[in-house]
Amino acid sequence: MTTILVLYHSQGGNNRKMAMAVADGVNSIEGAGANLKDALEAGLDDLLACDGVVIGTPEYFGYLSGAVKDFFDRTYESARGRVFRKPYTVFVNAGNDGSGALRNIERICIGYQFKKVYEPIVVKGEITPEVLDACRLMGQTIAAGVSAGIY
Ligand SMILES: Cc1cc2nc3c(=O)[nH]c(=O)nc-3n(C[C@H](O)[C@H](O)[C@H](O)COP(=O)(O)O)c2cc1C
Repeated sequence: MTTILVLYHSQGGNNRKMAMAVADGVNSIEGAGANLKDALEAGLDDLLACDGVVIGTPEYFGYLSGAVKDFFDRTYESARGRVFRKPYTVFVNAGNDGSGALRNIERICIGYQFKKVYEPIVVKGEITPEVLDACRLMGQTIAAGVSAGIY
């Protein structure tokens, strides 16, 4: 079984909708399953147990959300060296930018030595059906790629 951790935070619901669509995509691949978790409820075990991770966050003050940062702060020391080249990608739903959140997540993921395997999705504002389709495709692709051993 391939497990993809879909780790996200959302106050208003936009990033939750995107996370759910990513998880749907993962779950549509035979032999793969999503572990959909709010960052505040996720811990080291979720990270160690997964075969790939999708991280989703709003942009707050030009940065990732405190909840997702808190997850990284809590897990970094114990995860170091145990998640080498774990496949990952990112989605961001922001009000009008998103670049600061994305840049800083990618910096953090370099510290974990994760491997980026799919182009991040950055959405400003409204969640359209096209956004949800793109998120499902993200989930399908990372799950299928990990299952097949491509990543
Ligand atoms: C405290 C706070 C700070 C924010 N800062 C930014 C920002 O720096 N750049 C931006 O584009 N949007 C910013 N926003 C807008 C959110 O990123 C946007 O509303 C997003 O859709 C929220 O996602 P959610 O519905 O999943 O909670 C901010 C919102 C809040 C509540």
